Amino acid sequence: MKTEQTMRVAVFESYKKGADAHKSIHLDTRAVPEPRANELLVRVHMTSLNAADGLLLQGSPWVIRMSQGVFRPRKENRVLGSDLVGKVVACGSPEDRHLIGSMVMADVSDSGRGSLAEYIRIPRSTSIVISDEISLESAAALPLAGSTALQALRNKLAISTGERILILGASGGVGHLAVQLARNIGCIVCAVCSEKNIELAKKSGAAEVFDYRKINIIEQSELLGSFNSVLDVASSYTMAEIEPLLADGGKYVRIGGSLKRLFGVMFGGKRFGKKTKKSFGTYLQKVDLSDLETLVELLVGGHLTPHIDAVYPLENVQEAFRYFIEEHPQGKVLISCL
Ligand SMILES: NC(=O)c1ccc[n+]([C@@H]2O[C@H](COP(=O)([O-])OP(=O)(O)OC[C@H]3O[C@@H](n4cnc5c(N)ncnc54)[C@H](OP(=O)(O)O)[C@@H]3O)[C@@H](O)[C@H]2O)c1
Repeated sequence: MKTEQTMRVAVFESYKKGADAHKSIHLDTRAVPEPRANELLVRVHMTSLNAADGLLLQGSPWVIRMSQGVFRPRKENRVLGSDLVGKVVACGSPEDRHLIGSMVMADVSDSGRGSLAEYIRIPRSTSIVISDEISLESAAALPLAGSTALQALRNKLAISTGERILILGASGGVGHLAVQLARNIGCIVCAVCSEKNIELAKKSGAAEVFDYRKINIIEQSELLGSFNSVLDVASSYTMAEIEPLLADGGKYVRIGGSLKRLFGVMFGGKRFGKKTKKSFGTYLQKVDLSDLETLVELLVGGHLTPHIDAVYPLENVQEAFRYFIEEHPQGKVLISCL
C-alpha cells in the first residue's frame, strides 16, 4: 500500500501547567516512520484523549518527569496519544503482510504512545483487528479507558450480580464505561460526578447519582447505605473517610486522582485493610488484547456504548486539550486524524 512521505503530528516541547497547558502542543511535520520487525505502520483514523495525556503535557505530578524528561519531554516522548483506531498500511515482518489493509484498534499506552499523528509505528502485539463496520468513534473511545474500567471491576473488585457498587468519578472516560460494565453484570450502581454530568451517569445505568459539589457523600452514609465495592477514579477522600461506606468484607480500589492519595492506598492500603477487615488497593491498567476483544464484543452486542462528548480534527488539537483539561467533558473526547 502506498503511503505519503511526511505526516502531520501533534508535538509538545515543554511542560506547561494550568490554564495554558494546551498552548504547548502544536502541529508539526515529520517523516512517516518505517515499521521495524514485528511492527505495523498504521494510518491513524481516530484517537482519544486520556487523563494521562493531560498529565504528561503538564509534566505533573513530578514523578512523570522521571521517565519522560526532567526539564522538558525527551524527543521520543513528545507525541502524546495512548490509543487509536486506524488502517494498517505497511509491516516490518513478512508474516504480517496479511494485515495490510485491515482496520486495527490499539493501546500504545505502554509502548511509547504517539497516536496524535497521521501515522504511527506500533508493535504488532498492541493491536487487534476490528471489522470495518464498527463505528470509528466508539472503537477509538475504548482501548485505554474501557480496559481500565473492565480490569479494575473484574480483576481487582471481582464484582458480581446484585452487589451494590459506588463509582466516584462516574462521568469521565473511565467512569461512564465502568458504570455501564457494572450495570451489565447486574450490580446496583451509585454514581458520583458533577451536576452537569448527572444525566450521562443515569443514562449509563446508575440507579442513583450524587453531585459531589452539593453532597459530601462521607457525611451522607445513612442516605447512601453500604457498598460491596467502591471504584474511585477521583480520589477525593481518604481511606478512613471511605471505610464506613463499605459493607463487611467490602473492596475499595483507587485508580486515579492525586498522587498523594494514590500513594496513600498503595503503601498503606494493605495494613488498613487488615485492621478493618476490608480490602483497599490501587490498580494500574495493563495492555491486554483479550480485554480489547471483550470490549469490542460488548460494543457490537450493544452492551457498551461509549459517550462521545466531542470530536476535534487534528489541526484543532490545542483547543481539544483546552476543552479536555478545563471543561469536565462527558465521556470521551476524540481526535480525528483523517
Ligand atoms: N490506574 C490506571 O491504570 C488508570 C488508567 C486510566 C486512567 N486513570 C486515571 O483515572 C482518572 C480518571 O480518568 P478519566 O479518563 O476517566 O478522567 P476524566 O475523564 O477527567 O474523569 C474524571 C471523573 O472524575 C469526576 N470528578 C472530579 N472531581 C471529583 C470529585 N471531587 N468527586 C467525585 N468525582 C469527581 C469527574 O466528574 P465531573 O467531570 O462531572 O466533574 C469525572 O467523572 C485519572 O486520574 C486518570 O489518571 C488511571
